[in-house]
Amino acid sequence: MNTIQACIFDLDGVIVDTAVYHYKAWKRLANELGFDITEHQNEQLKGVSRMASLDLILGWGGLTKTQTEKEELATRKNAWYVDMINKMTPAEILPGAKEFVELCTQAGIKTALGSASKNSVTILKRVGIDHLFDVVIDGNKVSKAKPDPEVFLKGAQELGVAPQNCVVFEDAIAGVEAAINGGMHSVGIGLPDILGKADMVVSGLDQMNLEKLKELGALNPLKGELALGQNRSK
Ligand code: G6P
Ligand code: MG
Repeated sequence: MNTIQACIFDLDGVIVDTAVYHYKAWKRLANELGFDITEHQNEQLKGVSRMASLDLILGWGGLTKTQTEKEELATRKNAWYVDMINKMTPAEILPGAKEFVELCTQAGIKTALGSASKNSVTILKRVGIDHLFDVVIDGNKVSKAKPDPEVFLKGAQELGVAPQNCVVFEDAIAGVEAAINGGMHSVGIGLPDILGKADMVVSGLDQMNLEKLKELGALNPLKGELALGQNRSK
């Protein structure tokens, strides 16, 4: 039986509710370019890096841009996004998130942040929880986007914990896939319809407790199942 020694948390949509700001900023950019994006399309942007998100959006709008133009567009979107996150307050920490990270620490379970966002540290400081994590791996420290497991494997490595003893908390399909690809346990934060590949799906970290971590520890995370196109056995 495996035991859980580390919890690795995605940021956007798991710890704080920034997904809505990303959506607003991308929507504004798309609108300026002459088209719109839907909430359903936004679901596919969750957990996806800034440039990869832009490529998807341009594809939806049927637009082709040069690398220089893309960099300008991504910078424009990020400026609007940063304007919004600079106004964030601790009230925007999602229910139970701070308490659960603290509970892990008290129980001797290590904690890491594993996010594609290059704005991670700004956000953590803004909402006053930058001291809470043992390790922070963000978009400035990785080169491969989820579903590549790089961000989570780096977190596990810096914590000194084997992947099979880690649980990843994710609101994005690509993030759950990254956890599976890294041979880690996963908890989906959101709807089972969308995050069904995760070992367990809960509506928020306020629904997590040490008992559930124990249950996860009893599962055997199998590496590479996703590559074979199979769902994980529960
Ligand atoms: C997270 C979000 C994505 C975002 C990405 C990069 O994974 O879920 O929506 O595109 O981070 O964020 P950044 O702040 O670097 O643009
Ligand atoms: Mg997320």
